[in-house]
Amino acid sequence: MYDDFPILHNKNIIYFDNAATTLKPGRVIQAMNDYLNYYTSNIHRGLYTNAIVTDYLYDSTREVVKEFIHCNSPKEVIFTSGTTHSINLMVFGYMKYHLQAGDEVLLSKAEHASNILPWLRLAEEIGIVVRYIPLSDDYSLAYENVVLSITEKTKVISLAQVTNVIGDCRDIEKIGKLCSSKGILFHVDGAQSVPHMKVDFQASYIDFLSFSGHKMCGPTGVGVLVAREALLKEMVPVFYGGGMNLSFDSTGKYQLVDYPSLFEAGTPPILEVLGLKSAIEYLREIGMDKIQDYESELKKYLLSKLETVPDIVLYNRDSSSGILVFNIRGVSSADVSKYLNSFHICVRAGSHCSKMLKENMDISSTVRVSLYFYNTKEEIDYFISVLQRCRNVFHVV
Ligand code: ALA
Repeated sequence: MYDDFPILHNKNIIYFDNAATTLKPGRVIQAMNDYLNYYTSNIHRGLYTNAIVTDYLYDSTREVVKEFIHCNSPKEVIFTSGTTHSINLMVFGYMKYHLQAGDEVLLSKAEHASNILPWLRLAEEIGIVVRYIPLSDDYSLAYENVVLSITEKTKVISLAQVTNVIGDCRDIEKIGKLCSSKGILFHVDGAQSVPHMKVDFQASYIDFLSFSGHKMCGPTGVGVLVAREALLKEMVPVFYGGGMNLSFDSTGKYQLVDYPSLFEAGTPPILEVLGLKSAIEYLREIGMDKIQDYESELKKYLLSKLETVPDIVLYNRDSSSGILVFNIRGVSSADVSKYLNSFHICVRAGSHCSKMLKENMDISSTVRVSLYFYNTKEEIDYFISVLQRCRNVFHVV
């Protein structure tokens, strides 16, 4: 698989920042180049050949997404600019009109900014109450704590399936079933899970699922919101304009199209949707189970090697994803990252967009290694040999 990624040949890098964004395989780049070189056109407007081809490729991507995450219908698939857009659309297009002052939304403090800030804004606007399900000592989310946090006022539970710092994997099937039995809406932030494992929208009783293309071998600028049709029927657009109206006149009357196009005002990210299509086809050909198994083996290997590094503090030994966060005692995470960069190793340092987690963790900054299926044991060996020398370089005594 390593060979599928041109950047790994064009530049001498070891890329361990896959939770931030992933590399793009040649065929995804090719799919986008084909659109640019051979059939650039807008969608849903033209009657010439290129436009008809583009219409087909764009619209059929909904079916590809449907098959990939096993929702009920391609009509449940809305293209957005990314997970952040997806969550904002759900919060300000649906929740704003279906929740009332005093209704509770349950989150956790390990959520990404995009699954906290829209809710905080909605709390200011309409008076919902945002509460946080307590985390366990290892910063993971125990199912029992979800159960204990639910009250009669709980209307929504919104959680990442895999968190972007600790990388713990929540049992969404169990939580989804619980929500369904209690009439609670369940939103899954799949940004860090959909790229790495089989996610089943129907089997997990999910009401809303959001994810991004760029974290799964696709381009930036495209994401997906999947929602049950019954909910989409009651959601209102956040953006208005071309592509989502049937008619309007100077008396102020207007008629809008049906979902999913209703929520895709303006020219959508056509190029990016075609890239996403190619990325999903690529991932499916490899097989999501194979990807998950390989990452899990690689993560165990990385963990066993990291444990040998002097003065390392590991924060999420037991998390089941390919994310590992650590510090080297006496060296700031930014310095570790810059040091690794001098050996062309890309990792992320900082609070990783989950700024509330520090309330539980006592530390605000870590180094994060996040793996994907094209990483190798050889890359890990080199990374470890470089990291072993880090402490000495910074003269930590
Ligand atoms: N959410 C991305 C990350 O965790 C940007 O790095």
